[in-house]
Amino acid sequence: MKVISSKSDILNQDFIACGFRFITSEYYMSKENLASLHDLKKLFDTELEEDGLVYRKRAYLKLCWNKLNDLITVPMNQVYYQTPQSNKVDGGHVRQFKGMHAKVLEIPIVKSIITKNLKMLRHYQPLKMDKYLTVGLHFIRYEVSESGASYSSPDWLHQDDEPLVFIHLIHLSRYALGGDNLIADSSSQKITHVVRLENEIDTLVLNKNVYHAVTPLGSRKGVASRDVILFTVEPQYSQQCEMETICA
Ligand SMILES: [Fe+2]
Repeated sequence: MKVISSKSDILNQDFIACGFRFITSEYYMSKENLASLHDLKKLFDTELEEDGLVYRKRAYLKLCWNKLNDLITVPMNQVYYQTPQSNKVDGGHVRQFKGMHAKVLEIPIVKSIITKNLKMLRHYQPLKMDKYLTVGLHFIRYEVSESGASYSSPDWLHQDDEPLVFIHLIHLSRYALGGDNLIADSSSQKITHVVRLENEIDTLVLNKNVYHAVTPLGSRKGVASRDVILFTVEPQYSQQCEMETICA
């Protein structure tokens, strides 16, 4: 598996064909933004709400990015939609999650994640023609005690609606079991790679040339959690995205 830590052409032709890439935490972290990781982690304790399942909490912030003038806006419409094809469990209906406040965008490590992802996106060939992109920030905590299991939705191999998804690990408990990312060939659906995000801000980026899943989370001792930010990218027309509120 290729590991990229500093190059800006991460989403190159090789990535497009391969379907996934691991990006080490150093790509996003610096001496200047390291301390702010504490502030981001705290939000997972205070700002997330159960999303219908007791073992999973989340908050959501939808952004619109105008590539031409590099302006990020927060649309009034903050609902989230997945097709039934991409999510047999929760797809097919509009979901309204707890909203994450836009102040999160001021946290230096979040700024770094957004700036660097958008920099990569600017040159990403498959979305080159899209002047407006919708970016979804899904703040998700999987939380589990020794006797249970916490899992994502959908819970096995699938492709997302979004043509590009970054999975940024924010924190993984020491006693966590599982929570590994599986990559599978798109035609045979045979698993080809297992990727474990272990260090904070370790990142996996996926396109639709592979299937993927995350193994359920368990705990060896006490309560364990896995906190991630899913950074989803799609053309503006696939999620409603009116540009009412300018935030950055
Ligand atoms: Fe997914």
